[in-house]
Amino acid sequence: MAVTRTFSIIKPDATRRNLTGAVTKMLEDAGLRVIASKRIQMTREQAEGFYAVHKERPFFGELCDFMTSGPVVVQVLEGEDAVKRNREVMGATNPADAAEGTIRKVFAESIEANSVHGSDSDENAAIEIDYFFKTDEIVG
Ligand code: PPS
Repeated sequence: MAVTRTFSIIKPDATRRNLTGAVTKMLEDAGLRVIASKRIQMTREQAEGFYAVHKERPFFGELCDFMTSGPVVVQVLEGEDAVKRNREVMGATNPADAAEGTIRKVFAESIEANSVHGSDSDENAAIEIDYFFKTDEIVG
C-alpha cells in the first residue's frame, strides 16, 4: 500500500470544546502522521472557495457561516492510503450514522457541527492541501 497524503480540518465545534489534541490523537492512533498543521480563522471568501463544489446545495450558506464561526485547525496527514484511512477514522458525515469509535461518533454534535473534514479523493486532497498550505509549510 502506498504512503499518500490527505487534507484534514478540525472544525469550529471541536476547537471551541478544546478537542484539537483529542481529535489529533485519534488521527495519529489510526496510523496517520501530521506533517503540517496550523490554527486559522477562515475568512468568508476562503470558506466559499473551499466549499464551492457545494454552492448549489441548500446548506451552503449555513456551512460557510459555521466554518467561519471560530478557529479551525487545517492539517496535512500522511500515511498508508491516507484518504481512505482518514475517512474511516472520521466516520459518516451525520454522527447519527457514524460507526462506534469514529471521531464523529465520539465528538460530533450534528451533521453541521461534525468536528472534522477530510478529503474524499487523492485528487481533491492535492487541491485542498494546495488551497491552505505552501510547500515549505509541509515537512514530511
Ligand atoms: S460528501 O463528503 O460530499 O459526501 O458529504 P456531504 O454529505 O455531501 O456534505 C458535504 C459537506 O457539507 C456538510 N453538510 C452540512 N452542513 C450544514 N448543514 C447540513 N445540513 C449539511 N449536510 C452536509 C458536511 O459536513 C460536509 O462538510 P465537510 O467539511 O466536507 O465534511
